[in-house]
Amino acid sequence: MESKELIEEIIRLKNEKKAIILGHYYQIPEIQDISDYIGDSLALANYAQKTDCELIVFCGVHFMAETAKILNPSKKVILPDLEAGCSLADSCLAEKLAEFKKKYPDAMVVSYINCTAEVKALSDLICTSGNAEKLIREIPENQQIIFAPDKNLGAYLNRVTGRNMILWDGVCEVHDILTVEKVLNLKIQNKDALLIAHPECNGAVLELADFVGSTNAMLKFVKNSSCKKFIVATETGIIHQMEKENPDKEFIVVAPDESCACNDCRYMKLNTLEKLYNCLLHEKPEIILSKELIDKAVIPIERMLEMSRKAGLI
Ligand code: 13P
Ligand code: SF4
Repeated sequence: MESKELIEEIIRLKNEKKAIILGHYYQIPEIQDISDYIGDSLALANYAQKTDCELIVFCGVHFMAETAKILNPSKKVILPDLEAGCSLADSCLAEKLAEFKKKYPDAMVVSYINCTAEVKALSDLICTSGNAEKLIREIPENQQIIFAPDKNLGAYLNRVTGRNMILWDGVCEVHDILTVEKVLNLKIQNKDALLIAHPECNGAVLELADFVGSTNAMLKFVKNSSCKKFIVATETGIIHQMEKENPDKEFIVVAPDESCACNDCRYMKLNTLEKLYNCLLHEKPEIILSKELIDKAVIPIERMLEMSRKAGLI
């Protein structure tokens, strides 16, 4: 089927099955445009919790769909490609984290949402790039914290909050390879541009940024800024929304190396229109989790959502 036909069929099936499509900003433009809601991890978790639809189609990566399932155990959560993983989630095995926790018996565990359900079940609080700073600031200063699995986000949070969290050694393979040299070159060539960066980037890049924030926060910053040019240090998918919302502004993507003009997340980009169509048609692949795991993992996620609501973030 051609794209146009696929899109029509996806919409028809979605209406027929009364499903909701949730999409992340790193999805291909066609999927972003067909989604009922697009957002960052925090907004998507919030939509997932609030929806009445019995069938949730998650166009993002596995940990996001898993979070939707944990928040809606009675609903069916499907995603176009079950292989859509995440290097951060892969970096932190639950057994390894359980071992690590033993070394710091008094520490609480704050985990970035980019982790498996098993890791969430071992955590006291979940955070996203959209709420991490606010949430960390609410934890009493004398409370020791293990922060997993993103060491770049963790180091950034330590820097801005003045804390000394113990960091798990994981990175996002897309953001971590953006180098300070590339960013500096682009800054020199584009003196009139502002640099915006996702906190999964390494510290040297973040230090140079004019703004650091989640995908939603970056979009908001661009929209409200009077600047007309932006150097964007994150995954390329977000450029689609930036251009849509700001046709008068220019966006320059920080590419990891000369041979590559893009920073595509290979996991996010596994989802295609064709797979989305098949997934809606057959209602699979489906996220299946045990009740025992859901009951444990939901506690730190709901805690995060409650704290985020109180802080006016969602
Ligand atoms: P946010 O959209 O929450 O900023 O996270 C980006 C991300 O890592 C998704 O993989
Ligand atoms: Fe994971 Fe990075 Fe891809 Fe996000 S961009 S899904 S953090 S690998």
